[in-house]
Amino acid sequence: MSQSIYSPLTLPNGIALPNRLAKAAMEENMAITGHLPGDEMFNLYEQWANGGTGLLITGNVMIDHRAMTGPGGIALELNTPIGPFKKWASAAQKNGGHIWMQINHPGRQVYAALGGKVLSPSDVALDMGKHSKLFGQPTPMSEQEIQDVIERFAITAQKAVEAGFNGVQIHAAHGYLLSQFLSPLCNLRTDNWGGSLNNRARLLVEVVKAVQASVPKETTIAVKLNSADFQRGGFDSEDALQVIKILGDLNIDLVEVSGGSYESPAMQGSTSDGRTLAREAYFLNFAKDMAKQATMPIMTTGGITRLAIAQQVIDEGVQMVGLGRALAFSPSLPNLWKTDPTTQATLPNITWKNKAMASVATMAITKRQLQRMGKGKQPKGNSWAIFSLVADQIRLKKLIKQYRNRYASEQA
Ligand SMILES: Cc1cc2nc3c(=O)[nH]c(=O)nc-3n(C[C@H](O)[C@H](O)[C@H](O)COP(=O)(O)O)c2cc1C
Repeated sequence: MSQSIYSPLTLPNGIALPNRLAKAAMEENMAITGHLPGDEMFNLYEQWANGGTGLLITGNVMIDHRAMTGPGGIALELNTPIGPFKKWASAAQKNGGHIWMQINHPGRQVYAALGGKVLSPSDVALDMGKHSKLFGQPTPMSEQEIQDVIERFAITAQKAVEAGFNGVQIHAAHGYLLSQFLSPLCNLRTDNWGGSLNNRARLLVEVVKAVQASVPKETTIAVKLNSADFQRGGFDSEDALQVIKILGDLNIDLVEVSGGSYESPAMQGSTSDGRTLAREAYFLNFAKDMAKQATMPIMTTGGITRLAIAQQVIDEGVQMVGLGRALAFSPSLPNLWKTDPTTQATLPNITWKNKAMASVATMAITKRQLQRMGKGKQPKGNSWAIFSLVADQIRLKKLIKQYRNRYASEQA
């Protein structure tokens, strides 16, 4: 008999999560000076902790402040003070829930306006059509740069655990650096880090090993992986199954299955290679296949807003349900479902022809809800897409200016 979404899940390391619902990573862009979490972040995570979700995965935290997915992001490095991170972890754990820090390096997915060096396995720039110029031209990473990245992942993980986070999630999805190495479209290397799938997965493997060596044995270590990049000739579901096997041999505690990248935003339900995803629980079919073969629990995230679908995920053999936007618009959804199983989070439905702009607007409107919660307010589901997009662009411009001023000397 299958489990309820409210039953605990014991991970391979013996640690039990309170239930099978996780808040998926959503970058908050709410850092205070020094790329640190502040009061607004603590408020936000406390609100989620009160809402009944058993596991909160943070928005991606940068391993290097010189390479940010966006301005206003959080970075945790060797010399970062640990106090604010302790407060963040304890706000999230208030009701006995767990918090994992998602750790990430953007690789080539950095805005040109931010400046700095754009790292990637090869010199393949992002192809965003007429928006391509918004992103920097990558330079292929040297061996030393690769080793530096591996070390940085380990340092960030070690400090997260020191601050009281229950675990870390290594971000190897959505077209960021580790996912760039996995992809045959942007990894054109002919050395040990490119070519065969084993070589393309080497950076992920080395990062996992370095993280494992830097934290106590019982620490939870998870990976977020694309089921596919949804681009012709890209990382596909066969590759993903192979990588899950490799991660099983490394005793990873959970793999979250997502998909896509900036070029093909499948994580929001639309792809650039014309493949159609399910209308709800976008990656459930992939996740089911993976769960059949995986030695660790599988979580699937994308397009889940209803209890019936969340329970279907578990009934079909996938162990955890990831919720992103649903919890931005309805932070107490897991508790609300207990009293009214028909409660549904209403996500913005932006049907603009330009998929890239629609995706940016979706992010903007969602982040607005996080900012509201940070200020102690409730989300406001009916925000206008165009208004949120413009407000977000103005806010980002200001943050980019601050970032550039602060780091101008480092980037000179
Ligand atoms: C505002 C916003 C920020 C996001 N930031 C991250 C992130 O930092 N790391 C990540 O892995 N995914 C991120 N995502 C993707 C979500 O984790 C999730 O995969 C995606 O939103 C699909 O799930 P959903 O339909 O439940 O929202 C973000 C999504 C949104 C809307």
